[in-house]
Amino acid sequence: MIHNIRLHVFLSVLCLSPAFNALLARSQSPSSSSLMLGCGLADGGGKDSDGRQWNPDNKYLSGGDSNAFRASYQDPSLSSEVPYMTARVFTSEATYKFPISPDKRYWLRLHFYPSVYSNFDPANSYFSVTANGLTLLSNFSASITCQALSQAYIDREYSLAPLTSDFLTLTFKPSHEYNGSFAFVNGIQLMEMPNLFDSSATLVGFNQLMDATSLHSQAMFRLNVGGQYISPTQDSNLSRTWYDDTPYLYGASTGVTTEANKTVQINYQSMPQYIAPSTVYSTSRSMGSDKDVTLAYNLTWIFQVDPNSMYLTRLHFCDYTFDKSNEIAFNIYLNNQTAQSGADVIGWTSGRGVPTYKDYVVYAQDGPGADQLWLALHPATETKPEYYDAILNGIEIFKLNDTTLAGPNPQPSDMLMKAEEQQQKSFQNKDQQSTHPAIIGGAAGGAALLAALCIAVYQRQKRVPGSEPHTSSWLPLYGNTQSSGKSTLSGRSAGGVTLSATAQGLCRYFSLPEIKHATKNFDESNVIGVGGFGKVYKGVIDNGIKVAIKRSNPESEQGVSEFQTEIEMLSKLRHKHLVSLIGFCEEDNEMCLVYDYMAHGTLREHIYKGNKSLNALSWKQRLEICIGAARGLHYLHTGARYTIIHRDVKTTNILLDENWVAKVSDFGLSKTGPNMNNGHVSTVVKGSFGYLDPEYFRRQQLTEKSDVYSFGVVLFEALCARPALNPSLSKEQVSLADWALTNKRRGTLEDIIDPHLRGKIRPESLRKFADTAEKCLSDHGVHRPTMNDLLWNLELALQLQENPDGSIKLSSSPMDDAEFEEISLKGNDIATHYKNLSLGGEQETGDNSNAIFSQMVSPKGR
Ligand SMILES: *[C@@H]1O[C@H](CO)[C@@H](O)[C@H](O)[C@H]1NC(C)=O
Ligand SMILES: *[C@@H]1O[C@H](CO)[C@@H](O)[C@H](O)[C@H]1NC(C)=O
Ligand SMILES: *[C@@H]1O[C@H](CO)[C@@H](O)[C@H](O)[C@H]1NC(C)=O
Ligand SMILES: *[C@@H]1O[C@H](CO)[C@@H](O)[C@H](O)[C@H]1NC(C)=O
Ligand SMILES: *[C@@H]1O[C@H](CO)[C@@H](O)[C@H](O)[C@H]1NC(C)=O
Ligand SMILES: *[C@@H]1O[C@H](CO)[C@@H](O)[C@H](O)[C@H]1NC(C)=O
Ligand SMILES: *[C@@H]1O[C@H](CO)[C@@H](O)[C@H](O)[C@H]1NC(C)=O
Ligand SMILES: *[C@@H]1O[C@H](CO)[C@@H](O)[C@H](O)[C@H]1NC(C)=O
Ligand SMILES: *[C@@H]1O[C@H](CO)[C@@H](O)[C@H](O)[C@H]1NC(C)=O
Repeated sequence: MIHNIRLHVFLSVLCLSPAFNALLARSQSPSSSSLMLGCGLADGGGKDSDGRQWNPDNKYLSGGDSNAFRASYQDPSLSSEVPYMTARVFTSEATYKFPISPDKRYWLRLHFYPSVYSNFDPANSYFSVTANGLTLLSNFSASITCQALSQAYIDREYSLAPLTSDFLTLTFKPSHEYNGSFAFVNGIQLMEMPNLFDSSATLVGFNQLMDATSLHSQAMFRLNVGGQYISPTQDSNLSRTWYDDTPYLYGASTGVTTEANKTVQINYQSMPQYIAPSTVYSTSRSMGSDKDVTLAYNLTWIFQVDPNSMYLTRLHFCDYTFDKSNEIAFNIYLNNQTAQSGADVIGWTSGRGVPTYKDYVVYAQDGPGADQLWLALHPATETKPEYYDAILNGIEIFKLNDTTLAGPNPQPSDMLMKAEEQQQKSFQNKDQQSTHPAIIGGAAGGAALLAALCIAVYQRQKRVPGSEPHTSSWLPLYGNTQSSGKSTLSGRSAGGVTLSATAQGLCRYFSLPEIKHATKNFDESNVIGVGGFGKVYKGVIDNGIKVAIKRSNPESEQGVSEFQTEIEMLSKLRHKHLVSLIGFCEEDNEMCLVYDYMAHGTLREHIYKGNKSLNALSWKQRLEICIGAARGLHYLHTGARYTIIHRDVKTTNILLDENWVAKVSDFGLSKTGPNMNNGHVSTVVKGSFGYLDPEYFRRQQLTEKSDVYSFGVVLFEALCARPALNPSLSKEQVSLADWALTNKRRGTLEDIIDPHLRGKIRPESLRKFADTAEKCLSDHGVHRPTMNDLLWNLELALQLQENPDGSIKLSSSPMDDAEFEEISLKGNDIATHYKNLSLGGEQETGDNSNAIFSQMVSPKGR
């Protein structure tokens, strides 16, 4: 198949010509020739949330009918009003003409926000976009694409090889196949780019090098491995966006992430800095230090791609720990083929902190399983390195083609369609002025999250020889069997559970013997918790990876479909600060879910339930944990088009892994989600007393600010080391929220803080922290900060605490089984746990909770 394609294969590495070097030199400041157009913006343009100026587009228009409109609705997840809130709408073929240099490579970014513009409904919009004959999009529906990805808007990034023309003609053409079709665009960015590609890409499986300089490409993925999101303004002058790699990791063994010591400078030497910012090179993911563990697995990432296309995978490396060659050597596999054997980063760069990158080209064949790109690392035992480990700092994946980069529209899953319908209905029922974002529970939101992390749209395969044309999205096809999916992957899903390719891809299938082996045949001594779903066991897989295994109780109400939904949803909720689902088992009427094991248990047990004299966390550690948890919640709130509200934020739902990284647990399914908009709240109040938002009681309306309230209680808990509710105390002290606020206002907060912290918190840090926590507890949601503001303030509090308090060493004691009971991994647990405290007039437990209850309903004490 591969020889049918016009490959620009060069049998030897071409030397970089002087002209090419000159190009590199000149493009050091590419911003000089860049255009940022906000389509439909009025004279004067506007600034986006990063402060970048976008100019009107009209002077580049040449021919065609077009009109400028403002979007009728501003989606809460829009990252910025400019350029998304205005659009240019084309009812017939229209072009933009941009002057360019014929011999330069350009970056073209197109931004689409499918909202209703005047009387143009984006559902009717299908169009193609070409750039000097190169097809970028065809039969493109921004609306369907956004729906499938569950995103409000999409950005596409193309890299155009020199076009040998003085003009770039960008043509928008509405489809003839649909009545009333139109084209639109919200933003266009065009910038001269340095030649990022060269002629030394390895063609995997062909012992050859390839010249990628003359091919057009589309950026599909750009990840800061082991690190965090990098916004366009934080990039090294090329305004690229780098995302966290966590959602693409496969399986339970996700290695360890490390960050360069602040004293290590990233030394670019002769490599241009624009290749990637130093923030990419100063974080990495490696396999771990235990040889028995690293030899037993492949550190694997999986990406959904279009089959029948060629992909260039660029891997970024920088070793900031070691400085001798063959200390770490590893093999790199792409689609199960060896792309590189004996990769030795120090051997390549000859120095600590020196970055480098390698390009590998693979061709995704047509056929089953071809819609995935697998990247895997494994120690190279053959070269006998000193450590059996592997390291990676960044991943970029580009689709290459010289005629068309277009693919089919993804197909939204049934589940998303339903969620979308619900949302639409609730909007119609509601007054348009409402400022509440639509609240959709985990169902749609879960799927949304993965999508939010993707740079572009990936479509699944178009044609399998001998089958009907079939397109489906890589998002959950809930309950659907795919016609072409009888591949290796669905072959391994067992019993009645049919999962989408993505869930299968990200979520590992465990056989029952494997699960039994891991839990010593469900030995009672391994039980670490009991919930509505059944028992939770501690287990060990893959020669030493610890996991928590939730086993369905045969009498549980949770049936196959809930089980399936949970897998579909949770397998995509991957974030450094969320506890993730790593696999499942369904065999012989056994249903099990396998989660990350959190070695250090809950936050609560480390602030006041454990043996304090041994376990007291320092102020800095508490701040870091609070910041981590806030990041996890921020991701749930703003990760995508739908806001996911945790609804049960508390110190027992903030878990700590072996490195003391905070992970939020128990965000899961929220079946009542869509009804919330109509004012119906189930009689069982989900959430825990002491943490509940008073506004939730008054207005029966749940918003993300309810989580902020609960988080405020968590902050005071971390500061004061006492439970949110302590019925044994005097009335005014029962509720921590009230007691802390009273003291804060009286200026006596210092009196109630954890004695372990007394005298160790810098006053500025304490003030910042307490002010922030106080704002979270505001009676009205609108007065509470957003999770983002909160994060910012906590980071500030950490900075204000300049002197790190390293005096107290933590003992890494194993998790106390009794404590783990408090950890509920599943929404159902909460319902069970707090059924006795329900609002609907059912029985209340003892006097205390009655008193507490009335206090909560009429929070006069404030
Ligand atoms: C478009 O609309 C016209 C008139 O309403 C109708 O005759 C024609 O069949 C429609 N075409 C398509 C492709 O739906
Ligand atoms: C980015 O551009 C600025 C000004 O144009 C320049 O001073 C700086 O060196 C550039 N940085 C990189 C990494 O190219
Ligand atoms: C960072 O490097 C310095 C100098 O080598 C060393 O003293 C320090 O302990 C290192 N810090 C960490 C956190 O490893
Ligand atoms: C370019 O795209 C076309 C259409 O999708 C495809 O048939 C062709 O194989 C692609 N070429 C390469 C080099 O990937
Ligand atoms: C790679 O191998 C794994 C496990 O053997 C298999 O599930 C997967 O489909 C393969 N990937 C590709 C792209 O062939
Ligand atoms: C790692 O991946 C390679 C290539 O797919 C495969 O041959 C090997 O068996 C895998 N190793 C493990 C331990 O999974
Ligand atoms: C255009 O896209 C729609 C929606 O994905 C699809 O149903 C239709 O078949 C596509 N048309 C063509 C000609 O590909
Ligand atoms: C806490 O640890 C100390 C020292 O090891 C021990 O004497 C004490 O009994 C422990 N307290 C509890 C409640 O476990
Ligand atoms: C709820 O109340 C019943 C009896 O009223 C009791 O048996 C049960 O243990 C209580 N459940 C919880 C979670 O407190």
